[in-house]
Amino acid sequence: MVGMKATPAYKNPKKPVEARVRDLLRRMTLEEKAAQLIQHPIGRDTNPNNVGPDHPFDPTVGSILSFTGGAAARNAFQRMAVEGTRLGIPILWGYDVVHGWRTGFPVPLAQACSFDPSLTERACRVAARECWADGGVDWTFAPMVEVGHDPRWGRNVEGFGEDPFTNGRFAAASVRGYQGRTPAQLRGPGRVAACLKHFCGYSACEGGRDYSYTDISPRALREWYLPPFEAGVRAGARTVMSSFNCVNGTPAVAHRGLLTDTLRGEWGFDGFVVSDWGAVTQMRIQRFTADPARQTLAALGAGNDMDMSDDVYRNIPDLVRAGRLPRRVLDEAVARVLRVKFECGLFERPYVPELPREKTCRLPADLDLAAECARGCAVLLKNERGLLPLDAAKVRRLALVGPAADDCPALVGTWAAMCAKNHEETPSLRDEAARFFPNAKIDYAPGCALPPEGAPRLATVDFVEGSILDPGLPPDRAAIARAVRAARAADVVVVALGEPGWLSGENKSRRDIRLSPAQVALVDALAQTGKPLVGLVAAGRPLAFPETAAKLDAILYLWQGGSRAAQAAWELVTGAANPSGRLAMTFPRAVGQIPVFYNAQPRNREDLFDYLDRPSENDPWLPFGFGLSYTTFEYGKVKVASRRTQVAGRKSQVRPVARDPRPAAFVSASVTVRNTGGRQGAETVIWYLSDPEATSTQPVRRVVGFEKVDLAPGEAKTVRIALSRKDLAAMRPDGTRRFEPGAFVLSASLRASAEFVAE
Ligand code: BGC
Repeated sequence: MVGMKATPAYKNPKKPVEARVRDLLRRMTLEEKAAQLIQHPIGRDTNPNNVGPDHPFDPTVGSILSFTGGAAARNAFQRMAVEGTRLGIPILWGYDVVHGWRTGFPVPLAQACSFDPSLTERACRVAARECWADGGVDWTFAPMVEVGHDPRWGRNVEGFGEDPFTNGRFAAASVRGYQGRTPAQLRGPGRVAACLKHFCGYSACEGGRDYSYTDISPRALREWYLPPFEAGVRAGARTVMSSFNCVNGTPAVAHRGLLTDTLRGEWGFDGFVVSDWGAVTQMRIQRFTADPARQTLAALGAGNDMDMSDDVYRNIPDLVRAGRLPRRVLDEAVARVLRVKFECGLFERPYVPELPREKTCRLPADLDLAAECARGCAVLLKNERGLLPLDAAKVRRLALVGPAADDCPALVGTWAAMCAKNHEETPSLRDEAARFFPNAKIDYAPGCALPPEGAPRLATVDFVEGSILDPGLPPDRAAIARAVRAARAADVVVVALGEPGWLSGENKSRRDIRLSPAQVALVDALAQTGKPLVGLVAAGRPLAFPETAAKLDAILYLWQGGSRAAQAAWELVTGAANPSGRLAMTFPRAVGQIPVFYNAQPRNREDLFDYLDRPSENDPWLPFGFGLSYTTFEYGKVKVASRRTQVAGRKSQVRPVARDPRPAAFVSASVTVRNTGGRQGAETVIWYLSDPEATSTQPVRRVVGFEKVDLAPGEAKTVRIALSRKDLAAMRPDGTRRFEPGAFVLSASLRASAEFVAE
């Protein structure tokens, strides 16, 4: 038909993605290509660490980040890109949706303590739906899957603890939750692209100081830091964020070995890599290069496709024209970005529906899920004489004290996106108490307060002497006396302790991870009353307070449980639910013990004390995997069957789980767990493998699997695991693994174990 232009192939959804990418790429100018690799913020960024120049809106950029204007405004901007530019390439809208959008879920470190990745998958699915429909977000900068060994580092809260295997399982669950399980789901509405971050080794920062240098041996890289990323890539994550840190002298953003050889070469990743905020120009501070041209060449050349916030990639066209940047390198990077846009369905569905918020967010089922997650994440650290659960009907007078008792932000934590931290949307422990204690008079007296954000910047005083975290120090004796009076009159005292919600997260490292002096003084005074003391702790990191803990009869570590944290806490306290969380990160006794983590190398003289100033305290305060229940579990024997010992022709009965890339089982094992108490409860069987003899030394033990099982009183279930040769393989100094025949020990939660020989 004369005069009618054919629809270009890239606009034809029936064409394969790769054909569309190629077609679009060949139509693009150098400037248009470079723009696809640029990400700009618009307006105020919600991350206080990210302050940069205000860029005027440019409809040709590849991505916008941290835009808080909502769906309608996104659509208006998007229209300028889709309808107002030559090729109409839609913008990809990115945001840090880390543990929920308007429905706040527990922080990731808490989620890991549930040892139930299916909860995380469901939570991420809700977060994806809410942020897409309500915020116009297509891409979340999550999950963070960095193994954390140092609780001083504020960002542990964003990851899944100290174990690489656990991080990997949660990485995969998050990716499936955000993106869906199939390409069609990612293309459809209400899903967002995930981003594994920060690649790689950022958590190994010296001294737990955020943004500081990382020196990581090839072995540590492969043993601890890389596996969660590999698991996320294998689960289909479409993007990866390179990290701020220098890895052994090379900025991660310019690390070809990591970004190209490992990520793409070894793992086959074909999505794109985005830098972290300002990381490309920060190569100047890292004394790598201050020259913008060299910064671009180093980052893009290494495989960092998109530049977050710097705008330095604007020099790409000149670099190509000057023959300094091969066109092929540029085209490959642009192709990766376009591929993800096509896969997200952006060309077909560039706009999001503008629905009323009550139709898309905080639906009753979402809030129920938030409560379920919060219940599954809390860890019972102590329960002397079975004080918990409280028989709520019998409590006539309850003293609710402590600085976290009426503090909503303390229950939410960092990166809470649009989750409101007010009493209406995130009820505090105090708000929720009455409905759980129908016959009790509740006396509230906080005793001290958690300081508002900003206090550290005003601080001139030392933490111990007069804390920056308690500007009101020395402890307010009158406030403590009021709490003590309430305690004296009560049948039971619930004291809510912790750290402020803003005191963990990016750039929130602490050199002291104790409870603040005012909280210590408060518990000291309460302990004098002789009343039963229940401690509830809201925090975004392991806090070290063994001395104060000794004065509490029961302790439930709530972490930061999100919108329904308070409801979940009272359900657990009153026995409507049974705690089932297990620590995903070791709790040290004191900062001086850091780093302390479960999968360490053996210490030669175990018979000698670690520290002379605290003899008899060689172990951490609370180990990885620790957590109590209101019921008891009995473990049967661990039974191991290796292929060699099986009857010829009979295949292992244990199959690797769906989508698990591991080859068929080489060794299979099982253990039967029985609930021997009087209540329904969930037990997590954590499978640890030890290799007592190898050509290079192996960790004391490492997690090779876990499964959480729900058991009625008296009920027993058999939990199975299938291990490949690769699972058994010893880690060598160069970071490669090799199976070495010999004896191994497989333990189920350190409660039962079996030795076996694999050849
Ligand atoms: C953080 C990233 C985050 C980015 C965008 C950076 O400062 O390190 O984790 O995704 O900001 O907000």
